[in-house]
Amino acid sequence: AEKIIFTDDITDAVSKSDVIFIAVGTPPKSNGEANLQYVEDAAREIATEILADQMCTIVLKSTVPIGTNQLIMRLVLDVLQQRNIVARVSFASNPEFLREGVALSDTFYPDRIVIGADQPEAIANLSRLYHPLLEQTFVPPSEFPRADNAQLPYLISTDLVSAEMTKYAANAFLPLKISFINEIAGLCEKVGADVTEVARGIGYDQRIGHRFLNAGLGWGGSCFPKDTKALISVAANYNYTMPLLQAVCEVNIRQRITIIDKLKAELGDLHGKVIAVLGLAFKPNTDDVRDSPAIEIVRMLVDCGAQVRVHDPIAMNNARIELADVAVEFCDSPYTTAIKADALLLATEWNVYHSLDLRRLAQGMRTPLLVDGRNLYHRTDAQQAGFIYKGVGK
Ligand code: UGA
Repeated sequence: AEKIIFTDDITDAVSKSDVIFIAVGTPPKSNGEANLQYVEDAAREIATEILADQMCTIVLKSTVPIGTNQLIMRLVLDVLQQRNIVARVSFASNPEFLREGVALSDTFYPDRIVIGADQPEAIANLSRLYHPLLEQTFVPPSEFPRADNAQLPYLISTDLVSAEMTKYAANAFLPLKISFINEIAGLCEKVGADVTEVARGIGYDQRIGHRFLNAGLGWGGSCFPKDTKALISVAANYNYTMPLLQAVCEVNIRQRITIIDKLKAELGDLHGKVIAVLGLAFKPNTDDVRDSPAIEIVRMLVDCGAQVRVHDPIAMNNARIELADVAVEFCDSPYTTAIKADALLLATEWNVYHSLDLRRLAQGMRTPLLVDGRNLYHRTDAQQAGFIYKGVGK
């Protein structure tokens, strides 16, 4: 719509802006800590370009370790002082909560917008910027209509550190919910309960809610694993332990192992067994395989001596890179993946897998064993198609 100007001229970009977002990557270093080099470089470049008397707010959008906003604030103010520049610069932390795959709709219809700031001016500046979202006064794009029952987003204005902490607390609480239901799923299997029914039963309690209660082979992606680890390590720096969060991560590791155990329980030693894996992305609707539970399980299967065949509708290219060091066979359709396999593992709940012809899949296999790592199928449908069906928490 010609509403965005793209430029690589930082002088122009900085000097003409009232609000300057830093949204560069903070990839993990080999020791797990976030690499802040790009954030620091961006802040330094901005500080070098700010004009005398310029009024602007520098906003950190990247997910950064707690305390980084203070660091960036000092860095910018130091550069301004060295340049002998007096400018009215304020600072804000504005974490983002959007999910991969639904990023646009999360952007248009957020539950809340969190703004941490050093001065009321920064809050005022950003509230003005976000006004169309906060008041939902924009015309919704046709691809993303506003829901009839849509509520206005909350604006949470707070201090810099609390905003940083809010992001980490959210990315710790959500995996906590998933690990909780996964732990309950394990017990459901022992006592003969169905975790889907249990999640439905507890989810109607509004204090608990339905979302993020899908049991499965565990959580992954580029955010939860990195952010939970980062929070535990920040705590360690303060000599503080987080036993609950440690357990959330341990349950997640165990969850992947239970999938291997399920296969072993049916097939015995996995050495030489052919295992077909459907889904490699860390969740559906993305080609992202970073910290994907599916990828880790593929590695575990190969370590057990299994012959592994894999398929994913769009994450194959990334998976080829990620799995370059292991011998797996990449197949171009779910049906060829399953041919003569001893077991089929559903690892990512893509919609296209939901509509597969289960009978055709089962008929091509050596042993029609279906381990449904995401509870995508109904047991009765799978059994009627000829499968021995093993879900999670069923
Ligand atoms: C997550 C958060 O949901 C976003 O709010 C946040 O902004 C983002 O991280 C981030 O920090 O950038 P995302 O990584 O895209 O978003 O993925 P999610 O949709 O949250 O799923 C994460 C993992 O949890 C996936 O592996 C998914 O399969 C798993 N999951 C999710 C479950 O196993 N069960 C559930 O019920 C829900």
